[in-house]
Amino acid sequence: MRLQGKIVLVTGAARRVGRSIALALGERGARLALHFNRSRREALRLASDIKEGFGRDAAVFQADLSDARQAARLADSVARRFGAVHVLVNNASVYEATRFGRTSPKDWDRNMSVNLRAPFFLSQAAAPWMRRSGGGKIINIGDWAGERPYTDRIPYCVSKAGLVALNTALAKELAPDIQVNAVLPGAVLLPDDYPPGKRAAVIRAAPLKRLGTPRDVAEAVVFLIEGGDFITGAALPVDGGRLIA
Ligand SMILES: NC(=O)c1ccc[n+]([C@@H]2O[C@H](COP(=O)([O-])OP(=O)(O)OC[C@H]3O[C@@H](n4cnc5c(N)ncnc54)[C@H](OP(=O)(O)O)[C@@H]3O)[C@@H](O)[C@H]2O)c1
Repeated sequence: MRLQGKIVLVTGAARRVGRSIALALGERGARLALHFNRSRREALRLASDIKEGFGRDAAVFQADLSDARQAARLADSVARRFGAVHVLVNNASVYEATRFGRTSPKDWDRNMSVNLRAPFFLSQAAAPWMRRSGGGKIINIGDWAGERPYTDRIPYCVSKAGLVALNTALAKELAPDIQVNAVLPGAVLLPDDYPPGKRAAVIRAAPLKRLGTPRDVAEAVVFLIEGGDFITGAALPVDGGRLIA
């Protein structure tokens, strides 16, 4: 699928990795539906950067994806504004340290609802729009740690493991019109408050001995959309080899 002129919904697009994905897609000629939850100012700035930088249409959409109804409505709002949805990138996520003994049912539900349930209901709502225009692509942004879970973020890691199962199931359910693939990033952009000692340990742990960049993830997303018409149900690690270490 060529991205030129296609309507792409990116969740959690306003900042960090989502912003990089949106910019890379805008650069390839996509028209962008930029979802945000709290980062309205950053989302508006990104929309104007895309319009000015690439001359592409971009609009912002607010939704709290911990609410399944808002997730389902988001795809319809985008389709009403643009007339179609060709690609969905499920990028929004919560990433919180949750110590085993202190993890509450609310912590568990927040991780599952944003990281796993929302991608399901967004896909359910977007798929009919994709089929109406002859096909589409769904890209799920997982995490290498869904395959090798950390113990201090069990709900997060389990939600990302579930996202890989969802990726497989959707690839089967939505074939042959819609291809569904995942990108599993390693450390590409640490949280702003990440302790320096731990940062060095993260770098040492990956065979490539460096952090990746959000652009590495964005390029994998572009590849799976533009170069991956015969690929479905795949989960591509972009992790400096962390999974095989
Ligand atoms: N950064 C890394 O090194 C890394 C490593 C492995 C995997 N990943 C994966 O890559 C993706 C992007 O990573 P990131 O570090 O850029 O993510 P992030 O900064 O932790 O979160 C991305 C966005 O998710 C949105 N979000 C959070 N809760 C939400 C809710 N209730 N409803 C709607 N949106 C919500 C936020 O939007 P607002 O700001 O608008 O509220 C946030 O900006 C994630 O799926 C992450 O798991 C990242």
